[in-house]
Amino acid sequence: MAGTIAEQHHHLRTLLTEIEAADATAVPALILELKDALEKHFADEEAPGAFDDIVRTNAANVSPRLVQLFREHAYILRKVNALAGDPDPRARDVLRLVQAIRLHETNEMELLTDALYDDHGGSG
Ligand SMILES: [Fe+2]
Repeated sequence: MAGTIAEQHHHLRTLLTEIEAADATAVPALILELKDALEKHFADEEAPGAFDDIVRTNAANVSPRLVQLFREHAYILRKVNALAGDPDPRARDVLRLVQAIRLHETNEMELLTDALYDDHGGSG
C-alpha cells in the first residue's frame, strides 16, 4: 500500500469494513491484503521523522504512550500473521482482530491530538 499515512488510514478503514461485511469465502484473501497493508503502514509510522518527531517535539509527556502504541503494532502483526494463510479463519478471531486495529487507531489519533494541542511537555 502506497500513499501518505492519512491515505493508508483511509484504506485500512475501508478494508476493515470490507472484512466485516465479507462472505466467509472472501475473508482469507482480505486478511492477506490487510497483512500487507498493516506491515507497510506500521513501518511508515515507526520510521524516523513520522510520529516520533511530532510527539517528542510537542509533548515529551506523551512519549510513553508512543512506546505503548508501537508495542501494539507488534501485537497486531502477530495476530494478523496467525490468521493469514488460514483458509477458513474463525469469524470470532477475525472480528477481534478488526476491533483491536480500530481501537489501536483510535488511541493513536488521541495521542497525536494530545501531542499537538497539549502544552509543550508541561504537566497538562
Ligand atoms: Fe495508524
